Amino acid sequence: MKVLATIPDMLAASRSVRREHKRLGLVPTMGALHEGHLSLVRAAKSRCDAVTVSIFVNPTQFGPNEDFAKYPRNFERDRELLHKEGVDFIFAPSVEEMYPAGAITWVTVEGMSDRLCGRSRPGHFRGVTTVVAKLFNIVEPDLAFCGQKDAAQAAIIRRMVRDLNLPVEIVVCPIVREPSGLAMSSRNAYLSAEQRQSALVLYGSLKEIARRFQSGERNAASLITAGKQIVAREPSLRLDYLEVVDPGTLEPLPTINRPALVAIAAFVGTTRLIDNVVLGNLGKL
Ligand code: PAJ
Repeated sequence: MKVLATIPDMLAASRSVRREHKRLGLVPTMGALHEGHLSLVRAAKSRCDAVTVSIFVNPTQFGPNEDFAKYPRNFERDRELLHKEGVDFIFAPSVEEMYPAGAITWVTVEGMSDRLCGRSRPGHFRGVTTVVAKLFNIVEPDLAFCGQKDAAQAAIIRRMVRDLNLPVEIVVCPIVREPSGLAMSSRNAYLSAEQRQSALVLYGSLKEIARRFQSGERNAASLITAGKQIVAREPSLRLDYLEVVDPGTLEPLPTINRPALVAIAAFVGTTRLIDNVVLGNLGKL
């Protein structure tokens, strides 16, 4: 496994793989790896001949009062985990390498970037699409692997790839959960034991919504009310949003007459957590 820190080194490594007509997979991450990330790595290994994992805590997707400075970083542990998985390349650039002084160009998926997390985190998705577009140009992967955990992010990246004709196929992998049901996240490291317990109502509310959907409820407003009642049982939680949207466009879906994404975000203390479930034939809980 090679660790590459510069763009020319990464480009050269990717090109040498592709010269041999091998399929190259990319798993973009911000490190602090857990089983959710590793599930993407395993999917990439199964579908590609060579796999690159990028580890880059991307400053442009954090708001001014967000957790960029304290975001968990543990490169040695990440390196060991990826070595065990048989990854070929880690791309771990510095901020200066990715954003040289004077960079003023952005990639924005208009409209979609203002929905769900984009509404409460202005500029967040612009930072994500910009860095992911740069990673695609630097790694030139045939396939890139994203998690359903960040469903809006995956939909926005798919849309960017379509709209800009980027020559990469996006593969979205299922959410990996802890045995308690809590969706795995690097930010779970911020939670106390008590907060971890409170955080279970995110998944609890999604399960309640899925249960009602399975018993025939198709009205999004009723489902959202039922989900909010579960969240309200945990007064320490501050709901950011609970919405039913079209999984492709992220626009609200008042009646569930086709597959629907139910997405939730809430603050547990100062930690913001997200989770989601797809209702209809696309998803299972
Ligand atoms: P990060 O939060 O590190 O996540 C990297 C990838 O792992 C994302 O595609 C995310 O959806 C996936 N992932 C995280 N938790 C998961 C879980 N429990 N189950 C399945 N997949 C999971 O998302 C980012 O980084 C960044 O925004 C990035 C795309 C790297 C751009 O900076």
